This record gives sequence, C-alpha cells and structure tokens, in this order.
Amino acid sequence: MLQNEKVCFSGVQPSGNLTIGNYLGAIKNFATFSNDYRCFYCVVDEHAITVRQVPAELRRRTYETLALYIACGVDPEKNTLYVQSHVPAHAELGWVLNCFTMFGELSRMTQFKDKSARHADNVNAGLFTYPTLMAADILLYQTDIVPVGIDQKQHLELTRDIATRFNSVHPDTFTIPEPYIPQTGMKICSLADPTKKMSKSDENPNAVIYILDDRDTIIRKFKRAVTDSGSEVRMGEGKDGINNLITIYSVLTGKSVADIEREFEGRGYGDFKLAVGEVCADALAPVHARFDELMADKAGLEAIMKQGAENASRAAYRTLSKVKKKLGFVI
Ligand code: TYM
Repeated sequence: MLQNEKVCFSGVQPSGNLTIGNYLGAIKNFATFSNDYRCFYCVVDEHAITVRQVPAELRRRTYETLALYIACGVDPEKNTLYVQSHVPAHAELGWVLNCFTMFGELSRMTQFKDKSARHADNVNAGLFTYPTLMAADILLYQTDIVPVGIDQKQHLELTRDIATRFNSVHPDTFTIPEPYIPQTGMKICSLADPTKKMSKSDENPNAVIYILDDRDTIIRKFKRAVTDSGSEVRMGEGKDGINNLITIYSVLTGKSVADIEREFEGRGYGDFKLAVGEVCADALAPVHARFDELMADKAGLEAIMKQGAENASRAAYRTLSKVKKKLGFVI
C-alpha cells in the first residue's frame, strides 16, 4: 500500500438474492471511490453462515455477488474484489477483536436483536459476535471510508469504538474509519410494508425488487407497491410508500425531489408507479447483460477472486503482524 493512500472497504453478504436496496444504498456507490481510494470490496461469506445456508446456494450466490459487483460498474482492474473466507486474516483478527469488545456492546446491537428474534432456534455465538468480524474486515485494511446503508451505522460506530479502545492500549495500530452513508438511498423500504427496510431475506418476493428481476416483474411489483389513499405525488409525513418510491426514482434519475414533484403534478400514483418501474428496469438492463456474460465464464470469475485474495492478503497480513507484535505474540 502506498503511504498516504486512502482506503475504502465494504462488503455484502451472499445470503440471499441482492435487492435494489443493496444496489442503491451501497453497491452503486462503490465504483465512485475507485479513483481517489484504494478499494477493497469483499463477498462476506463467513458472515453469511451466522444464519443457516444451503451450501450449494451459498456457493452460487458467492459467484453471483462477485459478478454483480462488476456488473454494477466496479472494475476488477481498479478495485480488489475477493471472498472473505479466502483471506484467513479476517477470522484471525476477528478473534483478537472479540477480546477487545464487551458483552454489553454486542448485546445492544439492533441487528443481533432482530436476527435472534427471527432465528430463535439458532441464536449462535457467531450471530452475537458478527460485529467484531465486521470490525476486523474494516480495520485489517486501515480503512478510511466504508460505503454502507443506514442499517450498518451502528456496526460502524462499534467498529470505531473497538479501534479506539485497541489504540488506547496499543497506540497507532488502526485507522479510525468513517461511514459513507448516501443522503438519498440510505434506506430503501419494502414495497409491501414501506415502514420496513427492503431486505433480501424478506419472505414476500413482492415486497422486494431483486437486482436480477426481469423487466416485467419489476414493473408489476412497482405497480402493486403499497401506497396511502391519496393521489398527489408529493413527499409527506405518513406517506411512507410514496416517499419510498420518490426516493427510488430520485436515486435512479439523479433528479431532485422538487423536480420529481413538479414532473408528476396532476398525475396520479398509477402513472408514477409505472414511471418508477420503467426507470428501474432501464437502469438494471445493462447490469443484467453484463452479469450474464460474467456468469458464463466461471473460470474468469475465479481468476478475479484469486487475484483479489492475493492482493487483499498482502495488505491484511501487514496489519495482522503489527497487531500480533503489539499483543506480545511470538511471531
Ligand atoms: P448486507 O449484505 O445486509 O447489505 C449490503 C449493503 O447493502 C446495504 N443495504 C441497504 N441500503 C439501503 N436500503 C436497503 N434496504 C438496504 N439493504 C441493505 C447495507 O447497508 C450494506 O451496505 N454487515 C453487512 C456486510 C458487511 C460489511 C462489512 C459491510 C460485513 N463486513 C464491512 C461493510 C464493511 C451486511 O450485512 O450487509
């Protein structure tokens, strides 16, 4: 790593089919950092097993997630793209950070509380210590910035606390990372219940637009999106459904909310839902085409993963050796 080079890190779990929440809240922004930062984008398969996975599906989605990074514009020549389990330093630093993280801190994580309620039969220790592995992902690369949706903010705050605590015992070990949370698109909501986040694990497929949904499916799902009983396309309190659709339209077109409200003045929700569906389908069409090409060349994806893991390992082991020395491990 060059000195003074800024680092960007982020990850996505291959735990379900990726949604436009993942795209608009995170992946769409990844490519924008490539010119000014050294970027590491990881497929976090070790995080995914905190919830039971079907092995063949996990394997397929790991390839798909990597292919989607690239199809969404993240150039493997300019960014390090890799799979978390290919770089054992993540799990190793995760263990060390467990010893610098308090039980009370982990107990307060809202994602842990939500997931343990949803998977009450499998509240495993990995689910509990999920945030320390995430801290390891980030801190291993001396990361400056982490592009994520708003749901990851609490995990980022904990990462900063863990790094600060470690640095206070062993000075100058970790860079303290900042989250990058987009103003618009930080929380894309479910189309069936717009008070909730759109989630890849939602059981109702109509609540979610998957990045790989075909054009007709996208348009049909937007047409059915739950809205209030009004008709004016205007942001407002209590209008979660329409607010969500305006947000999606705004991120996809780059238009301001005021411009959108003007564009749809006097037209009903029906017209607007169709417009959002069309804009979304248009935006995803080139992603689909590129994705199909990439998935047809598994060996090509494997070469990218391998090269990515080599680059990532080099950077990761530099931090890990520093940590081991500071702790007093014989190395
Ligand atoms: P994951 O896999 O749930 O989501 C990947 C990224 O997508 C964002 N996101 C959303 N943004 C806006 N609206 C939504 N509805 C929406 N749903 C998801 C997430 O905020 C995330 O940025 N713990 C992480 C994975 C992770 C990670 C990391 C991220 C592991 N290690 C290190 C950053 C840095 C997660 O579960 O993301």
